[in-house]
Amino acid sequence: MTTSNAPATADTAPGPAEPLLDVSGVTMRFGGLTAVNSVSLTVGRGEIIGLIGPNGAGKTTFFNCLTGLYVPTEGTVTYQGTVLPPKPHLVTQAGIARTFQNIRLFANMTVLENVQVGRHSRMHQGLFSAVLRGPGYRRSEAESRERAMELLEFTGLAGKADHLARNLPYGEQRKLEIARALASDPGLLLLDEPTAGMNPQETRAAEELVFAIRDRGVSVLVIEHDMRFIFNLCDRTAVLVQGQKIVEGDRETVQNDERVITAYLGAPLEGTAIEGTAPVTETDQ
Ligand SMILES: Nc1ncnc2c1ncn2[C@@H]1O[C@H](COP(=O)(O)OP(=O)(O)OP(=O)(O)O)[C@@H](O)[C@H]1O
Ligand SMILES: [Mg+2]
Repeated sequence: MTTSNAPATADTAPGPAEPLLDVSGVTMRFGGLTAVNSVSLTVGRGEIIGLIGPNGAGKTTFFNCLTGLYVPTEGTVTYQGTVLPPKPHLVTQAGIARTFQNIRLFANMTVLENVQVGRHSRMHQGLFSAVLRGPGYRRSEAESRERAMELLEFTGLAGKADHLARNLPYGEQRKLEIARALASDPGLLLLDEPTAGMNPQETRAAEELVFAIRDRGVSVLVIEHDMRFIFNLCDRTAVLVQGQKIVEGDRETVQNDERVITAYLGAPLEGTAIEGTAPVTETDQ
């Protein structure tokens, strides 16, 4: 508790040293397979944190544990000082949004509608109001549309607002997923391989987009196989191998770590994607 003359927000706002996200000892077992093994990780306000590792290392499973898609076998996920219940909609409401390794858009909805769907978790109009289409509903719809258009401007997709999502080129579908995730006004954005399938030019643009997202006050945790992308962007990077976090640190620390070189990086870094590490299986991700 705080003293009576402390600022009104002091009771709920975390202290400056408290991480935004604090993952403690998360383990995920599937039968005999331990996909994530006692992984702890923090993300601070304003940080961009990388998560790398070979195919099957447990990166997506770790994201699924953070977002309530999976209930971790052990461990806790604390966001802004509160332990999150493992329910996706509650995690979104708490302020964590994500994109998927397998793009998950509504293919037959427009670009604008896809972003408005992402806004849904922030809208308070009930079903009754929607059916009656009263003034509250119309106001809320107008607000939702305006905010969605703003996010399309931000991600460079405004000119395609009326296109069907399925007609967008692959790189733009990835951007649309990011716009939709931002529509829930997150404090933390989880990106699962945001540049997979992008050409080098699109990848550089995606870097700028992630920096711009951070500059809007959203922290980012990003999984990628493109090492140049990771090391250009991230304040810290954690390496998962066979479900375990083997090292975490800045570029130098990660690149020079013997275990990382042996298990993942192999030859000295050339600054491009690591060959042979593109996703091969994409089930339930
Ligand atoms: N629902 C599930 N049931 C059983 N096993 C699973 C499930 N989800 C993931 N796994 C297994 O957990 C391990 C980690 O998979 P995961 O998809 O998290 O790896 P990843 O690091 O994201 O790999 P990639 O770089 O290829 O995307 C794999 O062996 C995978 O087969
Ligand atoms: Mg994955």
